[in-house]
Amino acid sequence: MTRPLLGVDYYPEHWPQDRWPTDARMMREAGLSVVRLAEFAWTKVEPRDSQYDWGWLDGAIETLAAEGLQVVLCTPTPSPPAWLIQKHPDILPVDAQRRRRNFGSRRYYCSNNKSYHDYTRRIVTAMAHHYDNHPAVIGWQLDNEFGCHDTARCYCENCVAAFRVWLKDKYGTLDALNAAWGAVFWSQAYSDWTQVTPPNLTVTEANPSQVLDWYRFSSDSVIAYAQIQIDVLRQLCPDRFLTTNFMGTFSDLDHYKLAAPLDLITWDSYPTGYAERTGPALYMPGQPRPKLAYDAGDPYVTGFCHDVMRGLKHGLPFWVMEQQAGPINWADVNPGVRPGTVRLWTWHDLAAGADTVVYFRWRACLYAQEQYHSGLLRHDAMPDLGYREMLRMKDEQSLMRSIQGSRVQAEVALLADYSDLWALDLQPHNRTITYWRYLFAYHRALVRAGVPTDVVSKNADLAHYKLVIAPGLLLGDDALAARLTEYVNAGGTLVLGARSGFKTPTNLVTDQPLPGPFRILVGATVEAWHSLPPGVAYPVADHKQQMLEVATWAEGLSTQSAQPLMFYTGGPLEGLAAVTVNAVGQGQAVYAGVWPNEVAVNSLIGWVLPQAGVEPVAMVPEGVLVTRRGDHIFLLNFTDVAAAAWVNAASVADAFTGRAVEHEVTISPRDVRVFRA
Ligand code: GAL
Ligand code: ZN
Repeated sequence: MTRPLLGVDYYPEHWPQDRWPTDARMMREAGLSVVRLAEFAWTKVEPRDSQYDWGWLDGAIETLAAEGLQVVLCTPTPSPPAWLIQKHPDILPVDAQRRRRNFGSRRYYCSNNKSYHDYTRRIVTAMAHHYDNHPAVIGWQLDNEFGCHDTARCYCENCVAAFRVWLKDKYGTLDALNAAWGAVFWSQAYSDWTQVTPPNLTVTEANPSQVLDWYRFSSDSVIAYAQIQIDVLRQLCPDRFLTTNFMGTFSDLDHYKLAAPLDLITWDSYPTGYAERTGPALYMPGQPRPKLAYDAGDPYVTGFCHDVMRGLKHGLPFWVMEQQAGPINWADVNPGVRPGTVRLWTWHDLAAGADTVVYFRWRACLYAQEQYHSGLLRHDAMPDLGYREMLRMKDEQSLMRSIQGSRVQAEVALLADYSDLWALDLQPHNRTITYWRYLFAYHRALVRAGVPTDVVSKNADLAHYKLVIAPGLLLGDDALAARLTEYVNAGGTLVLGARSGFKTPTNLVTDQPLPGPFRILVGATVEAWHSLPPGVAYPVADHKQQMLEVATWAEGLSTQSAQPLMFYTGGPLEGLAAVTVNAVGQGQAVYAGVWPNEVAVNSLIGWVLPQAGVEPVAMVPEGVLVTRRGDHIFLLNFTDVAAAAWVNAASVADAFTGRAVEHEVTISPRDVRVFRA
């Protein structure tokens, strides 16, 4: 399945047909081999109810195929036609304020609408029938960016009714539901299913157990909607791959569940947009930012997203289905992009485990919402920077191909879970704490230490990892505790973060001493937990007797079988442990009861990596990323200055030149070096 390598998102419907052959030829000349088509083209293929017009799309596919290009077709469901909305206005979703959203823009449908299910089945069946055996069509993308633009949660009547059915299925009886939600609080107990509503428009905060179930239900609704499309495509196009394009740290959906029935993960990477929009959601407020090239995005942010995405399918190679290839239009500044940057992003994608990179978009559009978004070609059809980068990368494609199919070699895993995320972010107790910040703090420390890291589901198989870090395991249960204990017993090193096991899966606090189901494994108990206001820090001594300060969140632990690794040397928790380590079987369980600010997390990571037998792949300065994929080591410099790094391998060969290198290497600004180990 790994043949395609570089490709482009193309909208033939935006351009006159007599231009298509030129476009297709230029794509081939630039070394592109795959084209994604039609995700917003419903009205073009079915301009009126039941009247199909395949001619233009057939023509576009033939034109591309004539140049040897392969095609990923999309189901066009993110933008239903005006005639369909006019006929069934209840397809339009309802927002949390109970306002029906309008036709226009995109994603204006409710996932639980029965008419929409029927029309979805019909359009997907029609497309699948029409293109089932087309040799150029290699796979399908479902919809486009499920959940984007705040569309995962709809508050219409159909959704409310479906929520009640979902709850009945989960809890069976109202007594069970009332108990699971703690509905006795504030007189919320229900005596009839029809009394249950979504948690919107409440006077003050809604019940967090109710909200968590609403999020789960909403996610399940989108996933069930996707399954309608999957069922049709599996039946009619059984040997084509199915994917959908994910969005990094977007988290209104349980992506592990959405990914499960798909063959391939693809995601949309916009490094400058993510640096502007997602960066502030990952770094702590006021945390100093690395000094990076202004147009390269933030590789710690992009890299975190890559690792989260790769983990959705246990590390299988993925695709970037939309790779930024010039300035974008939707962030705050949308900086211009200089030569070399698109190539650097492409190599970052490959280094992080991508097998194929598809650029967004072929040509800048003359009209509508994305007029200011660049393409590989300018508005006037002249090659833009992106196209010139493709030409430059043609020579590098054979090296890229030799990397396809191999796996990122990570000995460390961070555990993630969307229910934990929702529950933590619902009641952070300290507004600067968010789930992704929690994971990102550990992730960045590992990346800075030159250690490739997977981000995987807390239900994933962990046996092959030397070190597993679970920062935000808020919702614990005995089964999970048993699995983690087994992992440690067998020789693994586990780090549990503060607040682990605080809650049950239905978002009630555990009635056990903290960390709830993990307390035996950890061999220590949390005696007190303090949320710290800005400017307040508690002194601790670490394993080297170095003094450091913890901020934001501090737990004081008393040890049973565990040993203190960091302990408070002053302040209200003086005498209690802040971080503990417990020897269990062949392994060890660490409990880190502190917010991982940079000093604390670096100290902890500095201790735990050698303990777990994890060595850095390379020592790199700030702004340089290192990964290892198969037997290739990648060093990527995202700064504007040349950087020196130390590769932790006796002798490696430069994969571009074949020359042998001993440890010390330099990387030019915004450049990549690839070594064969
Ligand atoms: C993506 C989306 C594309 C396009 C792009 C612009 O999120 O899938 O259709 O809008 O952003 O950067
Ligand atoms: Zn709805």
